[in-house]
Amino acid sequence: MAKATSRFVCQACGEAFLRWEGQCRNCGEWNSLVETVVRAKTPAARNVRRALTAGADPVPLASIGVADVPRAATGIAELDRVLGGGIVPGSLILVGGEPGIGKSTLLLQAAAGMGGPVLYATGEESAAQVRLRAGRLGLLDTSAGTAIEVLAERDVGSIIEAARAARPALLVVDSIQTAVVDELEGAAGSVGQVRESTVRLMEFAKGESVAVVLVGHVTKDGSIAGPKTMEHLVDAVIALEGERFAALRLVRASKNRFGSTDEVGVFEMAGSGLREVADPARAFLADHAAAAPGSVVAPTMEGSRPLLVEVQALVSPAGYGTPARKASGVDPNRLGLLVAVLGRRAGIGLGSHDVYANLAGGLSVAEPGLDLPLALALASSLRDRPVASDTVTIGEVGLLGELRAVPGLDRRLREAARLGFRTAIVPRPTRGTPPLEDPGMRIVEVATLREAIDAGLGDVERHRGEAVPAMLG
Ligand code: TYD
Ligand code: MG
Repeated sequence: MAKATSRFVCQACGEAFLRWEGQCRNCGEWNSLVETVVRAKTPAARNVRRALTAGADPVPLASIGVADVPRAATGIAELDRVLGGGIVPGSLILVGGEPGIGKSTLLLQAAAGMGGPVLYATGEESAAQVRLRAGRLGLLDTSAGTAIEVLAERDVGSIIEAARAARPALLVVDSIQTAVVDELEGAAGSVGQVRESTVRLMEFAKGESVAVVLVGHVTKDGSIAGPKTMEHLVDAVIALEGERFAALRLVRASKNRFGSTDEVGVFEMAGSGLREVADPARAFLADHAAAAPGSVVAPTMEGSRPLLVEVQALVSPAGYGTPARKASGVDPNRLGLLVAVLGRRAGIGLGSHDVYANLAGGLSVAEPGLDLPLALALASSLRDRPVASDTVTIGEVGLLGELRAVPGLDRRLREAARLGFRTAIVPRPTRGTPPLEDPGMRIVEVATLREAIDAGLGDVERHRGEAVPAMLG
């Protein structure tokens, strides 16, 4: 019998077994065995280890030379910003996103913009399919037609061999879930396969100083399919977000060893690939024209970039059982908490209502400042009264119904004013805060959630019969 090349190692206690079992016989943990390659200590592997730990002698902190990190720009400004200026040679980058969101498209466009030789290994599609996409992107008649080499291959060993021979500026592996390592028996996409493939590609990237980009599919709950350990192995994790059937796409770094994780890039999926959006601040507002109950515009901030987003809420009397609380693009826990605070502190009782909340354009925003617009949208929907369409609001809501300011209010409001908004409902600043620069709009400062709701929904009431009917559309 051939010598087994793999073992099943328990991730909890480290014990190794020859066969997979549901429970570890050593520590009793369930589902903890992962297929792992038994590795011979080859000279090549030792060289890689040495390359990885080069300069392991202790050096005083102050005398460490700052090597300028060289970067290769992809030529796509929005992507380069997120990467921190471009792709660093020898780095391993994971690009994640739901199937069909545009990962292959983005990477093919980035590959074309590199201006150097790129090896594009595809395990998901045939070479002909990649060519078809390149044609659609208009790349065939450009220099990219010869600079990009396509390799339809799933075996990681063969991909690395081809890359060693071709010495590209960039190796793209599309996708890590279809990559397989010979020595493992598990199917492509299994935890063991994904992890071992990632490790080998990492060793190749570091050992040969070639940048490697891995495509990874994301499961419904938002994690990259495969083990979490994969995210630890790579230098950067870039997520492509958006709704598959809407045009806008957001590129965001959730981890980046060579740059900040604040920046976002905004794209639009067009007939000929992903196009950079000219005015990202208003991109997610495109459809917001008339005031409608349950709709509130919030000047959010993604990194250093203000983005205006439309928060939408719908409440309706619940039928039997526990009322529904559904959130898309906003934190569901936050939604639950706001429903409770609204009930106890602002007289907006939603206990027997189904509650739905959503951000327009398939965006998702995690900042606490989204509390106030979300709460106002819920109140607006319950009372069936719109917030004026030229009003924005932002602020964090505390458990007592008190409001807290958000950072960068000046910039947010200036951007909102530029896009034609005339009124902002914001938390009253605490004493000692420098006054706001005049953002060019009316500022309504409020201390509590109740005051904010009065300001947001009261105005419309007061002006009823004047400009409002037109705004109601
Ligand atoms: P794709 O890059 O294949 O997604 P992924 O690799 O993340 O699975 O893109 C899939 C979708 O994008 C597909 O439904 C078609 C659409 N698309 C366009 O709208 N315009 C284009 O120019 C291209 C290439 C794709
Ligand atoms: Mg793809």
